[in-house]
Amino acid sequence: MYTSPADPPRRPARTVPDLRRMKMSGERIASLTAYDASFARAMDAAGIDAVLVGDSLGMVVQGGANTVSVTVADMVYHSRCVARGLQQALLIADMPFQSYATPDRAIDAASALLAEGLASMVKMEGAGFVLDAIASLSAREIPVCAHLGLTPQSVLRMGGFKVQGRDAEAAQALLAQAKQVEAAGAQLLVLECVPSGLAAEITRSLDIPTIGIGAGLDCDGQILVSYDALGINSGHRRPRFVKDFLKGQESIEAAFKAYISEVKSGAFPQAEHGYA
Ligand code: KIV
Repeated sequence: MYTSPADPPRRPARTVPDLRRMKMSGERIASLTAYDASFARAMDAAGIDAVLVGDSLGMVVQGGANTVSVTVADMVYHSRCVARGLQQALLIADMPFQSYATPDRAIDAASALLAEGLASMVKMEGAGFVLDAIASLSAREIPVCAHLGLTPQSVLRMGGFKVQGRDAEAAQALLAQAKQVEAAGAQLLVLECVPSGLAAEITRSLDIPTIGIGAGLDCDGQILVSYDALGINSGHRRPRFVKDFLKGQESIEAAFKAYISEVKSGAFPQAEHGYA
């Protein structure tokens, strides 16, 4: 057990199958990260479809240089805080570094995030050995979001936060991984810092929806770290896919509404926010 007293189960209006229906109908999925109840409440009221409790909290909340030191207990705590602010949106929680190193560890961590963190889906980075964890969770009725491209938990091996899939060989490998995570049972796929054309090809090739961050307009939806979407710079270099939606708005809720409206209409992201 990672925490704490019981809250009543949430009944989110948005479900995992809804996201698939949105892909099929062509309605773009708007998503943001949240780490606490107040921000969650504001983005939920603005009409966000899905909220991710990202392990980016290791950087934007805890002030770390990367996401590697975030624990399952941290994720459960923040997921539960966010759940208390949501009425409508689907809640996805990140599985932190090494919490899915084996399928057994993945089952324990994901169960805590659903039962104690009140999430409806968990996200894991990568393919390869992660495919077994995706399959194990899916077989146990735990909805999984995969995450490919720039996978921040690999920062120590990659040597930095870098765009992925730029040459032909790397692009083919990424397309193959996307098909593998879908076949293993993932029901959603985040594509981070992937050339826009490749993200479009992956999106066309899959039945499950894709959510892009620095992956161009042709994903089925978009996500941003909420601090980035509000122009809060936590001392890190601002990536090109970020836009400050608070600029010109009078409140944080208005900024969230502007983000959702631009995602839904296709006004965001523009070519300048993507990679070739
Ligand atoms: O941790 C996070 O916030 C994420 C998003 C950037 C997709 O994984």
